Amino acid sequence: MSAPEEQSPEIVETPRGPASPCVLVIFGGSGDLAQRKLIPALYNLAEEGLLPEQFAILGVGSTDLGDHGYRERIESNIPGYLTTECDPQRWRWFAERLHYVQADLEDGEAYKALASRLEEVSGTFRTGARFLFYLATPPGFFQTIVERLGAAGLTREDRGWRRVVIEKPFGHDLESARALNAAIEAVLDESQVFRIDHYLGKETVQNLLVFRFANGIFEPIWNRFYVDHVQITVAETVGVEGRGRYYDRAGALRDMVPNHLLQLLSLTAMEPPNSFDADVVRDEKAKILQAIQPIGEEQVLHQAVRGQYGAGEIEGLGAAPGYREEPEVAPQSPTETFAAMKLLIDNWRWAGIPFYLRTGKRMPKRVTEIAIQFKRAPHVLFRGTGVHHLPPNQLLVRIAPEESISMRFGAKVPGPGLRMGNVEMDFAYANYFGATPATGYETLLYDAMNGEAILFQRADSVELGWQVIQPILDVWGALTPRTFPNYPAGSWGPWEADELLAQDGRAWRKC
Ligand code: BG6
Repeated sequence: MSAPEEQSPEIVETPRGPASPCVLVIFGGSGDLAQRKLIPALYNLAEEGLLPEQFAILGVGSTDLGDHGYRERIESNIPGYLTTECDPQRWRWFAERLHYVQADLEDGEAYKALASRLEEVSGTFRTGARFLFYLATPPGFFQTIVERLGAAGLTREDRGWRRVVIEKPFGHDLESARALNAAIEAVLDESQVFRIDHYLGKETVQNLLVFRFANGIFEPIWNRFYVDHVQITVAETVGVEGRGRYYDRAGALRDMVPNHLLQLLSLTAMEPPNSFDADVVRDEKAKILQAIQPIGEEQVLHQAVRGQYGAGEIEGLGAAPGYREEPEVAPQSPTETFAAMKLLIDNWRWAGIPFYLRTGKRMPKRVTEIAIQFKRAPHVLFRGTGVHHLPPNQLLVRIAPEESISMRFGAKVPGPGLRMGNVEMDFAYANYFGATPATGYETLLYDAMNGEAILFQRADSVELGWQVIQPILDVWGALTPRTFPNYPAGSWGPWEADELLAQDGRAWRKC
């Protein structure tokens, strides 16, 4: 029952104008993230008329490049990363706003040079003294940059707003996340801090709020009386993609769960906020994280499963080496590339309803989805008909590869006699709104420029996320896994992950 191609939705719109004038300072300006995501996203915003005339970009990096060299570098790399056709006139407008300053990020003096460069650029482009600092650097620099910016007077808001966007990973565990928050709070007010979780830039993730709270029909059944359980899957076919050095220290649990998966969980499970004010929404999300039942260390073995891929084959991609054969990964690495867990939420809406989470690299398919499985209908109506098994209804929120929402229900198979089949009612974004040529960072950048914090993580949520997984980190850290590698690349993870649900009489959805 897919919607036919090119449906025209009835749009209820709040008009959007260009973002606030500012200079966007990108630390790590010539790095991977800036080139692959941030610059293309900014270009897309320019294409949509969402960047103001009074706007400039200042890349900061250790490479010796002048403005000219920076523009040249971006110009030669950008075509591979742009998601839209490059319009030469628009590009000229954009390119003349690109600047660069070389800096040793540890060196306090460099921030004085940065301050004077900012005076000059903001004067030329009449941005006022509004600066958005984007930390697209390795995490080891986050604290230093914030402290040095503060010491150079660049975070004071007396002449214009000053904001700092911080990428993930935010800390390595609960203790380091707390320490990083404390160091940041010593320099900045929370309203100046924008902690990124790029999952919140995804349309379907944002749509979860609209889907749940702008439609009256789902909320009455969105609770323990109707929902049997929830499954959240983030499966990737890729391995560590040249990031072995980072990943081998992080692992699947740290890399994906306290941030991306718990964001999905909190948006799925939160109570309706009484407004769309950023703090009101973030309060509700934080309450859900607080309500997650703490996993005692002795429960970790029953509620959490880890895995590491060995060599295998992925359909469509071919043979894949084992994790321990990846570059910059230790030959006997104990790092997990797969993590699954069962979480319970101690509140009235969800008491007793399990949320099963799983994420892994080198899975058979790339899939990110939230499946809400409803309780089975009572059987009575079909007595004596031969229909012995009523499959449960399922609501599926797909985030990748395609963005869609679908409802699975039973329908009568045409013809004499009573036979039932499972059918799906589908809403696919692309059918209604066309494919959006976006990197996923457009909304996040636009919102940060406008000081809209709803899609960013507050200090408390980041710490709560770590708090949820800390017991698992502790137990896994203390017990060396003896069975690694325990799943072949191209499979759905170790058998213990199936067992995790089987012990509750359930099974993972076949994605
Ligand atoms: C990143 C992780 O945060 O998210 C990566 O560090 C992971 O390991 C990526 O591959 C997944 O993002 P997406 O948008 O491709 O689902």
